[in-house]
Amino acid sequence: MKRVPIKVGLVGFGTVGRGVYEILERHRALLAQRIGAPVEIKKIAVRDKSKRRGIKVPTGLFTEDYREILRDPEIQVIVEVMGGTQEAKTLALAAVKAGKHLVTANKALLALHGREVFGAAKAAQVDICFEAAVGGGIPILRALREGFVANRILSLFGIVNGTCNFILSEMSEKGADFQATLKRAQELGYAEADPGFDIDGWDAAHKLAILVSIAYGVHVPVDKLFVEGIRRLSAFDLECAKRFGFEIKLLAIAKSQGAKIQARVHPTMIPAASMLAAVRGVHNAISVEGDFVGEGMLYGAGAGSGPTASAVVGDIVEVARNIIAGIAYTVPPLGLYADKVRDAAIEPIGSLKGPYYLRFQALDRPGVLAKITSILGRHRISISSVYQNLAEEGRVVPIVVLTHEALERDVRAAVAKIDRLEVMKEKTLLIRVEENCR
Ligand SMILES: NC(=O)c1ccc[n+]([C@@H]2O[C@H](COP(=O)([O-])OP(=O)(O)OC[C@H]3O[C@@H](n4cnc5c(N)ncnc54)[C@H](OP(=O)(O)O)[C@@H]3O)[C@@H](O)[C@H]2O)c1
Repeated sequence: MKRVPIKVGLVGFGTVGRGVYEILERHRALLAQRIGAPVEIKKIAVRDKSKRRGIKVPTGLFTEDYREILRDPEIQVIVEVMGGTQEAKTLALAAVKAGKHLVTANKALLALHGREVFGAAKAAQVDICFEAAVGGGIPILRALREGFVANRILSLFGIVNGTCNFILSEMSEKGADFQATLKRAQELGYAEADPGFDIDGWDAAHKLAILVSIAYGVHVPVDKLFVEGIRRLSAFDLECAKRFGFEIKLLAIAKSQGAKIQARVHPTMIPAASMLAAVRGVHNAISVEGDFVGEGMLYGAGAGSGPTASAVVGDIVEVARNIIAGIAYTVPPLGLYADKVRDAAIEPIGSLKGPYYLRFQALDRPGVLAKITSILGRHRISISSVYQNLAEEGRVVPIVVLTHEALERDVRAAVAKIDRLEVMKEKTLLIRVEENCR
């Protein structure tokens, strides 16, 4: 039976938008077979129609006003791949209100305005899909919502920022320092000219907010998450990690503790033999533990035109199949039909328990180590290993301490006291250790 095409409006024709167009063109027949109807892009909104795009597209498809797409009664699906938050939010709410299904790759939009956008989609009973927002081409959100649906999620560890993973992999493999490696990442196009959003952990935090909201069916404001980036790590820290049998990764971590949820992004020491430690370069991986299924891991390309567009087209297919079946909102965006999705009770970072790596920068004088260990001891922190570089007396040297399990509140109090010692020449670096990371 020949069906009428599903009409799509594409808002944005940059890295991701162009990829979506290419897949829909190249796989037109294949997708029609898989969906049961062809998919047709009816309009494409961009900022500047005159820009050279390096790809053949009928010029009549372009518009500089996305409201044309909103007003078009034939367009059933809007694909938002323009980025940003304010305009994207206006577009998303207007699309849903107009009864159009929404596919977006915009993690910032959902992490910051998800409650409002999801609420509007529920009220309008339209689909809202956003697989590409986390992990690029890795279908982690669908896996959490559907594949793992039988389970309570006990923990989730994610390498979800390719820029940071590239920098840390290079520093670990080549012993290069942070600034030089960041520069190299920028030259290779793996880091933005203004890299703060990635290297300070905020991109990963936006993704974690989305992962937690689906894993636990809650709303999570990004500002409730504990977020720490990778700027302070040195080649020395990566070398020490190896000495202790670890690698350092920027991880997005979620764990459920009864009603409370741990949700945090920070550099983490993980066993060198773990699967996540083997994830190198710009790749992403998310390891999930469910109470019945046990542990599983998804690995792949976390960004880029092809992988991200692949996830977006996957969402378009889901929506198109629903349209043909005459249904919508069968899998709610957070995987819950609950009337009210509750706010997440996020555990404060001070209650975290685990081993810690502490790097002190101190003047090399007799008795310094004794002073440090005595303050740690008074705060109930016991030491499992110490490493100190030999140097001439009177010079500033790193002293590294690996602790047994301790309460973060105690560790912070001890470090604050140690940092006030006259011999200390830099703020102490603290890295959390996750010994059970897969
Ligand atoms: N790039 C990735 O690997 C990746 C991975 C995962 C998720 N994402 C997400 O996907 C989204 C798009 O990213 P991208 O890398 O494709 O961005 P991009 O290359 O900067 O492209 C943005 C596109 O949006 C258009 N645009 C911007 N404002 C507009 C407006 N007001 N009206 C109409 N069009 C507008 C731009 O038009 P002009 O071309 O005329 O300037 C451009 O075509 C973002 O939310 C991003 O976070 C990207």
